[in-house]
Amino acid sequence: MLRSIFAIALALAARLVSAKHCQNLTIPVTISAQNAVWNITAPSNNVEVTNFILDVNRQGHSYIADAFKGGTYNIGTTYCAPDHGHSKVIQILTHGGGFDRNYWDLSFNNFNYSYVNVAVDEYGFSTLTWDRIGVGESDHPDPIQDVQAALSEQALRYLTEQIHNGTFPGVEHEFEKVQHVGHSIGSGLTLSLIRDYPTISDAAVLTGFSANGTWADQFMFGSSWLSTTEIPRYQKDYPAGYIAWEYPSGIQTAFLAPGNFDPEALPWSVNNTKPTSIGEIVQVGSPVRNNFTGPLLIITGERDLVFCGGDCYQIGNPAVPSILNLSTILAPDAQLETIVVPGSGHGLNMEYSHKQTYADINKFLQNH
Ligand SMILES: *[C@@H]1O[C@H](CO)[C@@H](O)[C@H](O)[C@H]1NC(C)=O
Ligand SMILES: *[C@@H]1O[C@H](CO)[C@@H](O)[C@H](O)[C@H]1NC(C)=O
Ligand SMILES: *[C@@H]1O[C@H](CO)[C@@H](O)[C@H](O)[C@H]1NC(C)=O
Ligand SMILES: *[C@@H]1O[C@H](CO)[C@@H](O)[C@H](O)[C@H]1NC(C)=O
Ligand SMILES: *[C@@H]1O[C@H](CO)[C@@H](O)[C@H](O)[C@H]1NC(C)=O
Ligand SMILES: *[C@@H]1O[C@H](CO)[C@@H](O)[C@H](O)[C@H]1NC(C)=O
Ligand SMILES: *[C@@H]1O[C@H](CO)[C@@H](O)[C@H](O)[C@H]1NC(C)=O
Ligand SMILES: *[C@@H]1O[C@H](CO)[C@@H](O)[C@H](O)[C@H]1NC(C)=O
Repeated sequence: MLRSIFAIALALAARLVSAKHCQNLTIPVTISAQNAVWNITAPSNNVEVTNFILDVNRQGHSYIADAFKGGTYNIGTTYCAPDHGHSKVIQILTHGGGFDRNYWDLSFNNFNYSYVNVAVDEYGFSTLTWDRIGVGESDHPDPIQDVQAALSEQALRYLTEQIHNGTFPGVEHEFEKVQHVGHSIGSGLTLSLIRDYPTISDAAVLTGFSANGTWADQFMFGSSWLSTTEIPRYQKDYPAGYIAWEYPSGIQTAFLAPGNFDPEALPWSVNNTKPTSIGEIVQVGSPVRNNFTGPLLIITGERDLVFCGGDCYQIGNPAVPSILNLSTILAPDAQLETIVVPGSGHGLNMEYSHKQTYADINKFLQNH
């Protein structure tokens, strides 16, 4: 008995000393996140580290806001007013990928296709067109680190606030209302703007757009993007990371619907497209909750490839007239109207149907 109690005590003691089994393990985790790009230089000595700690912890200051990548960028813009002077309402027009601000004032066919001519001369609006950062006469900074959707949105916000508060250099007029019109990526930017600043716009129009991104890949493959480093006319002004179109059939596939365009418009477009940055393209993202409550028009060609897969009416539900009707998810609280332009493709402004498109947009904006 004594022996066995001794044996149990020994066994317990043995278990106590050997109870813990540990392993040091090194685990590889493969992850990614949308990390911020900081404009911070690594502190390299004690004084710099202390400076950094003092800078980060100042009451009344936000170090983070200052440390986001940013800077001053020159933006190419065109302001137009009617003959009688500034109008009360200004439209801010944001172009899409593959073009610059001239998309709104196409010189093709003696400006016969100009949206600005219609908005200003026929409807009496003032207009402001701008080249997105990285495009045309705006600066062409690093197409990956700098030219991203969030930065372009801030540029649009800045221009909007300046034109609204009367400090826009050379215009200096306080407009009663500011309205926004976008095309394609420009519609995406306009949507982000009214999502993040729901009171910044009195009315918005998204052209060449819908809530359905199913066919984005067809558009991207079909339009045949090339490197600006291999297109002679862009080599000087656009570094690697900018991409552009050069093949007529690619532009036709992406932009022009069968039977709805002047045959001359295609070679003209080939000569007048503009590069886009890949930093902006990778970020064209899915919609998030939008608190905009103002008037919102979505107007898209019946045969839009990228946003309707070539037919906005094919929806598989007889109770819903078109794919555009499902756009309410983009801005549930907006006063939404949708218009499908018969026979038109994605490049609404370059097609025969532009007159109807321009009338629909301007009547909508006139009413709001
Ligand atoms: C785990 O690593 C530490 C040192 O980091 C070491 O002290 C310990 O003995 C290791 N444990 C095992 C179970 O290898
Ligand atoms: C980075 O920060 C410095 C100092 O604050 C500033 O001068 C510079 O313009 C910033 N650069 C960029 C690209 O944001
Ligand atoms: C534009 O073209 C259409 C048809 O091609 C023509 O009817 C119209 O007069 C033209 N307008 C201008 C301003 O040239
Ligand atoms: C007008 O808006 C611009 C851009 O947001 C801003 O920098 C400026 O301080 C504003 N000026 C006034 C007087 O509100
Ligand atoms: C939108 O509204 C929701 C709910 O009221 C709120 O949580 C969110 O912060 C708002 N977003 C913006 C950008 O104002
Ligand atoms: C396009 O540009 C080329 C080279 O500059 C020129 O020869 C051609 O006439 C232009 N075509 C059109 C339709 O503008
Ligand atoms: C896009 O539209 C197609 C055809 O109507 C439909 O099958 C698909 O579910 C839609 N996707 C989204 C995200 O709405
Ligand atoms: C679809 O949109 C049109 C135009 O905005 C509207 O008149 C119609 O009531 C909508 N129909 C449905 C079922 O949402």
